[in-house]
Amino acid sequence: MQKAIIWPPYLLPILSRKTRGRPLVYLDSAATTQKPYEVISAVSDFYAEHNANTRRGIHELSEEATELYEKTRDIVKNFLRAKHREEIIFTSGTTEGLNLLAFGLAGELGRGDEILLTEAEHHSNIVPWQIVAKERHLKIKFAPVKADGRLDLNAYKKLLNRRTKIVSITHASNVTGAITPLDKLVPAAHKIGALIIVDAAQSVAHLPLNVQKLDCDFLVFSGHKLYGPTGVGVLYGKKRLLEKLTPRRYGGQMIEQVKKNKTTLAELPARLEGGTMPIAEIVGLGEAINFLRNFGWQKIKTHDQGLCEYGLKRLSTIPDLRLLGPTDFKNRLPIFSFTISGIPAHDLATLLDEAGIAVRAGHHCAEVLHTALHVLVSARASCALYTSRADIDALIERLLEIKAIFHG
Ligand code: ALA
Repeated sequence: MQKAIIWPPYLLPILSRKTRGRPLVYLDSAATTQKPYEVISAVSDFYAEHNANTRRGIHELSEEATELYEKTRDIVKNFLRAKHREEIIFTSGTTEGLNLLAFGLAGELGRGDEILLTEAEHHSNIVPWQIVAKERHLKIKFAPVKADGRLDLNAYKKLLNRRTKIVSITHASNVTGAITPLDKLVPAAHKIGALIIVDAAQSVAHLPLNVQKLDCDFLVFSGHKLYGPTGVGVLYGKKRLLEKLTPRRYGGQMIEQVKKNKTTLAELPARLEGGTMPIAEIVGLGEAINFLRNFGWQKIKTHDQGLCEYGLKRLSTIPDLRLLGPTDFKNRLPIFSFTISGIPAHDLATLLDEAGIAVRAGHHCAEVLHTALHVLVSARASCALYTSRADIDALIERLLEIKAIFHG
């Protein structure tokens, strides 16, 4: 039996507040995680003690800010097991990372080239490619998912061909929690010479990442889904590929020299970090990674699998509930999207909120996936390290009450 992780309120302050006059049951961690005290205080300490712009001022504060900023790059490098610190680029989040890649790689692509995505992608990993595809006359293909939301691996392999130049794929679905078998996908993409991009937005707080072992060409994630601040994220890329990537933001520290008729750009990583960056948030991200690493991956895996097993079992007792996603508790994340026949998903979320239970309703920015699974929208309960079985119990109890209201 999995041991509960105890969270005194000083560790995660928000968990002790009430919502709608009830104790908060926060089941919307796939949208954003709550922040531990260390992260909150790292951000406020930065502003209270060290605030200055990085690399620009020859004064002590600027030196301190730069040191904290660059120290975080090393934390991220070690976290991802990257080879070089210049392979870590700070962004505003997964969406910016994917946009930077789509538009930054576009120049290498020509008429008839193909981009391979999957039906499980978040809109941030579809829309930038659609824009680029229209401009450059490219073709986008979608590898299908099976009825339980898992990727159809055979179909994926069949779609790869010599025109495929880029494969961009989620590591874990924000709807079904299904984990993508990257160990099979990456070699298949490389075999035909395509670059592979991993969207690790959902997986980063749940699964250890080793970019050298995975051998992915690029990987992106957001800080706010791994207990860090909003407005900050990471783009990892192999050095030789990042060196060729066209920047999206020109100005500030990404410039080396400007003449009236010519500009030279700085070396990596600054070259891809134009303008003043969210320095305090980046420092907070470093603290969030430290917080996660202090748990250790084994403990995180046990916690997640325990929640998956318990959540799936309890949800299966609710009549008329359809779970979107794998029913096997292994190889999935504790994200439970579902529909209950006769009850609109938004009504479910509103009535859960009345009882202090925060979930998300809608297509969760994954409309293509909902269409593939033959539903318009769903309600989604998603978990993190602070989620307990008692939270799942509260969800189930309230769902049964809601069912009684609707179905008598
Ligand atoms: N992508 C985030 C979610 O799934 C915002 O809710």
